[in-house]
Amino acid sequence: EGNSGIDSSKLLATTGLVTLDTGFVNTASCKSEITYIDGGAGILRYRGYPIDQLAEQSSFLEVTYLLLHGELPTAEQLAELDGQIRHHTLLDEDLKRFFDGFPRNAHPMAVLASAINALSTFYPDDLDPFDADAVNLSTIRLLAKLPTIAAYTYKKSVGQPLLYPDNSLDMVSNFLRMTFGVPAEPYQVNETARAALDLLLILHADHEQNCSAATVRTVGSAQANLFASIAAGVNALSGPSHGGANQAVLEMLRGIHASGDDVAAFVRKVKNKEAGVRLMGFGHRVYKNYDPRAALVKKMTDDVLTKLGVSDPLLSIAIELEQVALSDDYFVERKLYPNVDFYTGLIYKALGFPESMFTVLFAIGRLPGWIAQWREMMSDPKLKITRPRQIYTGPTARDYVAVEKR
Ligand code: ACO
Repeated sequence: EGNSGIDSSKLLATTGLVTLDTGFVNTASCKSEITYIDGGAGILRYRGYPIDQLAEQSSFLEVTYLLLHGELPTAEQLAELDGQIRHHTLLDEDLKRFFDGFPRNAHPMAVLASAINALSTFYPDDLDPFDADAVNLSTIRLLAKLPTIAAYTYKKSVGQPLLYPDNSLDMVSNFLRMTFGVPAEPYQVNETARAALDLLLILHADHEQNCSAATVRTVGSAQANLFASIAAGVNALSGPSHGGANQAVLEMLRGIHASGDDVAAFVRKVKNKEAGVRLMGFGHRVYKNYDPRAALVKKMTDDVLTKLGVSDPLLSIAIELEQVALSDDYFVERKLYPNVDFYTGLIYKALGFPESMFTVLFAIGRLPGWIAQWREMMSDPKLKITRPRQIYTGPTARDYVAVEKR
């Protein structure tokens, strides 16, 4: 299709030709105006704006607006979005009770995905994916309620009572308070913690056709509602090859520390591919250069830890691990560099989050990107259900054999 004037979908249907591209290494599934990545040069832009400028000068709320609407908001537009989100932070009391049904040690990502799916049951009249007002309302509901749900998954895991949102606070402060606050005790939001989390959310806000965004689009392409599509994205994100890597990085660093800080021995294990050990937080399907987000996180880690008064032996292990890997032919030849998750866990840990919550924080950040992509796809008049083909490798035709003759 395009300049050739040939409609490839018709060609495919008539000839039966298919392209095999396992893992979609070189297959574009859509056109998009949202996020630009040049993996070779290490460039990331949201709607044309370089990630480092947004990280230094913008806020997560502003980036949310930018991703959803294509332009930076005016002061009034930003205030309106802020007000709408504050207005919708509460969960239905019945949904609140939903958290009681999970065991204390449930992984927060499983609870998060389940609760997002359950959200749709409370709004049966606002689920039409082609009704602009309903989609706008679902968008705000998700943006506003996800931090509340995320905080409740944490409260559930530590057995503490759930805190109602305090809508005098901005989204990130409210989330920190609902997570770490205790009823009947005042909670003072730490500005270093708020600013650090806000910045990390900006860095995670979108990343074009990654596994979870592609999942959100795939589910949405069947005209499933926004909540169902986002819940599917959360499940995709939970995998250790994707968002779950931020938890896995810290587990890896702790493992190295516990076994005597021998970084070189661990790197040897990775190179020998012992028991499938990978250097978590390293490598990326698209970046064959330093992930620009990782560079920004690395730059802020030391500063944030110092301001929070946290000294973490895992930071020096991470720095040494990066130095050893980047000067080793195995990693150089394969163009393996730190990705966004390599240093984020150290900051989350310093903020007081347990490892199991790390991927939940990623999900809060990625939500605007998922929604923006879902909306972009649904507004395409040529919306087509995602339906890949396959290369069949099973048996050729054979006759059924009765059970007594097998
Ligand atoms: N440690 C050691 N070796 C690695 C790593 C790693 N982290 N990543 C890739 N390799 C090696 C592979 O073993 C392979 O080597 P080979 O050619 O000798 O077999 C080669 O590099 C290419 O690896 P692939 O798996 O084919 O690369 P792919 O693009 O499919 O994978 C992925 C990308 C999944 C991110 C991979 O680099 C990985 O598993 N990294 C660790 C997990 C991680 O950090 N995930 C987060 C990704 S970013 C995000 O989702 C936010």
